[in-house]
Amino acid sequence: MIQQNLLAVLSVSLAFSACGAGLGKSGGASAPASGDSARAAASRRNPFLGANFFLNPEYIANVEATAKRFPSDADAIRKVKRYPTGLWLDSIAKVASIPQWLDQAKQQQQSSGQPTLSLFVVYDMPNRDCASKSSAGELKVAQNGAARYRTEFIDPIAAHFRAYPDLPIVVILEPDSLANLVTNLNLPACDEARDAYVDSSAYAIQKLGLPNVSIYLDAAHAGWLGWDHHRENLIKIYKKVLKAAGGVNMIRGFATNVSNYTHLYNNDGMAMESSDPCYNELVYVKKLAVGLSDHGIRNKGFVVDTSRNGKGRIRKVWGNWCNIKGAGLGERPRAAPEPLVDAFFWIKVPGESDGTSDSSQPRFDPDCASSESAPNAPQAGTQFHAYFLDLVRNATPPL
Ligand code: BGC
Repeated sequence: MIQQNLLAVLSVSLAFSACGAGLGKSGGASAPASGDSARAAASRRNPFLGANFFLNPEYIANVEATAKRFPSDADAIRKVKRYPTGLWLDSIAKVASIPQWLDQAKQQQQSSGQPTLSLFVVYDMPNRDCASKSSAGELKVAQNGAARYRTEFIDPIAAHFRAYPDLPIVVILEPDSLANLVTNLNLPACDEARDAYVDSSAYAIQKLGLPNVSIYLDAAHAGWLGWDHHRENLIKIYKKVLKAAGGVNMIRGFATNVSNYTHLYNNDGMAMESSDPCYNELVYVKKLAVGLSDHGIRNKGFVVDTSRNGKGRIRKVWGNWCNIKGAGLGERPRAAPEPLVDAFFWIKVPGESDGTSDSSQPRFDPDCASSESAPNAPQAGTQFHAYFLDLVRNATPPL
């Protein structure tokens, strides 16, 4: 995934008791006034505050599998089991995993006595990954993909979420999709998806905008949309989507750096793209927040993916995005680490590949064989043991 720019607050439990009961399920333009005001209040709260995070047993098993392969690093690798990661709904088939995950989250919530938050990445847009190949999806605009997205993907996800009204849920909606509309409309698959991305995003927001669900729209990262004109165009697209979805209060905020490597604090960007005013991810968040506010989108929070951005200066070309060599785990997932930031979170699953480096395989993207990419990479989403070992060794701060 992650096709680049070609150029270049209150506790959750309180939130629940305040807005959990008696609301219409889908919210949206037709929701009653009381539902609207409850949603407005909920959209101003950081859902990560006061919450524990769900630890996925399947991920823990993957970490253990890597630990067994590298006995001398096993202790360090096993430390990763303590941290939550995104739960990727990257196909219609994956939707069936939701009840199992949420049952486990419920058990963790009951045994800890703390609200236990699960973070889902909703990622099956028609013509997904329209500007690259490694995560090209199963749904196609030309083959009724937009309708299937609604009925076979979003509706069942909403039904599952509705069945767990006491669990806090975060949705990161469709990484890369709206950003591709900013920079990649010159590509046929993106151009074809122009309306489908906007309409499908609005539909997902309406349906998933439940009282226990906080939605964050994807906002790419500093090295993709950091330029003033790109940020401005992105915000225009957000306005269109949010208008169709029922208003700015339908979402809590925006997610940045999903599956990317952009550093939080240093000035890496100055060397890679000197014309980009956002030389790191937190500068990008600040500038985006100002732009959003100028357009009436205020009081939003950001989630920044810190799964693999611990180490700075690991690439020369900011547009390279696939299994970048030298990357390390970044800041640990936690609530409210910086102004404007609701959470740092490991949204990309550390250890899972961005795409195969084998040109003979389906969905091979040449970016995954670039000189800055780790060799011998498996398909996107598959455990890449050697790469995971490097992420652990390069973790910054150290594990
Ligand atoms: C892949 C998904 C995977 C996700 C998390 C994406 O790049 O396309 O299949 O679940 O990364 O690793």
